Amino acid sequence: MKRTTLLYAAFGVDDAAWLGGFREQAPDLDIRAWPDIGDPREIDYVFVWKQPLNLFDGMTNLRAVFSLGAGVETLLAGGGLPAGVPLVRMVDPGLATGMTEFVVLRVLHYHRNMHLHEANQRDGAWIQLRPKLPEDRAVGLLGLGNLGASCARALVGLGFDVRGWSRTPKLIGGVETVHGEDQLADFLCGTEILVCLLPLTADTDGLLDARRFAQLPRGAFFVNVGRGRHVVEEDLLAALDTGHVAAATLDVFREEPLPRQHRFWTHPSVTVMPHCAALTQPKTAVRTVLDNLRAHLAGAQLRHVVDVARGY
Ligand code: NAP
Ligand code: GLV
Repeated sequence: MKRTTLLYAAFGVDDAAWLGGFREQAPDLDIRAWPDIGDPREIDYVFVWKQPLNLFDGMTNLRAVFSLGAGVETLLAGGGLPAGVPLVRMVDPGLATGMTEFVVLRVLHYHRNMHLHEANQRDGAWIQLRPKLPEDRAVGLLGLGNLGASCARALVGLGFDVRGWSRTPKLIGGVETVHGEDQLADFLCGTEILVCLLPLTADTDGLLDARRFAQLPRGAFFVNVGRGRHVVEEDLLAALDTGHVAAATLDVFREEPLPRQHRFWTHPSVTVMPHCAALTQPKTAVRTVLDNLRAHLAGAQLRHVVDVARGY
């Protein structure tokens, strides 16, 4: 009998950890690595990141595609995903832990005035700054999905005044939630530290523009860990130049790697990160993918299937 075949087609990642992990944890599967795919009709499942063109050609018996990442906009835009084949996005505890750590790190950084203390040290200035109480600091999360909700819970645990915005209504203990575009202006008006954890879709592309930044209170902080295209970069730079947005931590950009001449690199109020707020961790994620795959083989519904029409 033919063994179930999983094709590994992830690019730009640590193959030894990923492919090695799959081979070690699933000796029962026929695990092939791109480009040595053999007969494409034998491929049942694909594990993919940054796929080459025509990856799925000839895979007439494909049962599902697993994304290494949470954001699947490039997979959807790249085309070639066979119609009707489920695409599973990455929902994994290791990823959520990484994102939560990063968001908490940057929220605390601004909340505790570390950006000012670092500047004061450069000037040799000894200046005590009393931080606000966390309950008096409004942190707003755009996106309350797997990652946004995890960050929200951690920030609630630290005592912050946490708000969240999503497409549909949400109930998360200790978080004031709103939803829909007509609630966004009010949400932004009350947000001192804004964290973007949205997926990139037709509705969220370019969402954060001059009008939206102007709706934040003067001196607000911005942390973008969603996607670069959520932001109109020139509008953010203008808001930073006037001080309306006091400082920003940017992990994602319209063009990655961020071009060397881009103003973000040298702007005094910007922290540039090389898209590593949360890197998927093979140690937990190989197990996550295999659990979902094996349950599917046993007849269960796949978990975390992307709604292609919605875009996430
Ligand atoms: P998710 O579980 O799908 O959650 C997405 C959230 O965004 C949901 O709460 C959703 O609302 C909300 N949303 C989507 N469209 C919206 C709209 N038009 N208006 C308002 N809310 C909207 O996604 P996730 O796993 O948390 O991941 C979020 C994103 O993080 C990924 O798509 C990716 O872009 C980014 N990411 C970045 C890194 C990094 O290292 N920088 C790592 C991983 C992921 P509903 O709940 O109502 O559907
Ligand atoms: C990383 O950006 C991801 O989408 O997982």
